[in-house]
Amino acid sequence: MAKKHEPPVPQDMMPKHIAIIMDGNGRWAKKRGMPRTYGHVQGALAFRKLLRYANDIGIKYISFYAFSTENWKRPDDEVHALMDLMRKYLKEAYDHFDLRTRFVLLGDEDGFESDLRQQFIDIQKDTDDFEKMTAGIAANYGSRHEITSAVKQIAQQVKSGALQLEDITEDLISQHLYTKDMPDVDLMIRPGGEQRISNFLLWQCAYAEFYFCDTLWPDFDSKELDKAIVEFAKRTRRFGGL
Ligand code: FPP
Repeated sequence: MAKKHEPPVPQDMMPKHIAIIMDGNGRWAKKRGMPRTYGHVQGALAFRKLLRYANDIGIKYISFYAFSTENWKRPDDEVHALMDLMRKYLKEAYDHFDLRTRFVLLGDEDGFESDLRQQFIDIQKDTDDFEKMTAGIAANYGSRHEITSAVKQIAQQVKSGALQLEDITEDLISQHLYTKDMPDVDLMIRPGGEQRISNFLLWQCAYAEFYFCDTLWPDFDSKELDKAIVEFAKRTRRFGGL
């Protein structure tokens, strides 16, 4: 399929892995006198558009924070609405195989109802061969939980003698995270006006550039993504060196 959009900066200056905290759905709806769940519906549409746009301009890895381990504390109707949106979009993903996008669940699949859990298992299996782009969907995700569970798995292997203490490297730890097949995050974007990381990809963001803006997530479109990428390209990354 012919490319519809040009990337905002030359390909070699583009971030390889973009992570996005999709914040501000509730406020977006409230401003319009609508229920919070309507904001999530609009937020999901923004997600769909942005995924296609990112694919179009050649982003290789993109991760979206859809539902945190803490979000279970929200009112039941909101949790249900978010789960139903995930069901809908995971089903719909089968209509978008032209994107050649591999979907990866970043999160603990055991927290979901069995049908949704199965949908996550299926989409990962059915898109596993796609190589144009990888989309991480962080759902039932918490970074501290992810790191804790990596530590437990590694400790278990040391205990059983399968690993020596000296075998524990940063790389080994990365290999035990949900993002094991993905590079570290280059650009972390948070719309919605808050400037915090909210337990999202803490390990993977060690050297990420951060981009915050006031736009609420349902209004975050391709132009907003371009702005973030242009800003990223202007920054000098030293990774601790000079
Ligand atoms: C944060 O905004 C957003 C969420 C907790 C949910 C994000 C989910 C979606 C965009 C839709 C479903 C996702 C997929 C992948 C289909 P908030 O509600 O906390 O906003 P607020 O800060 O204005 O209250």
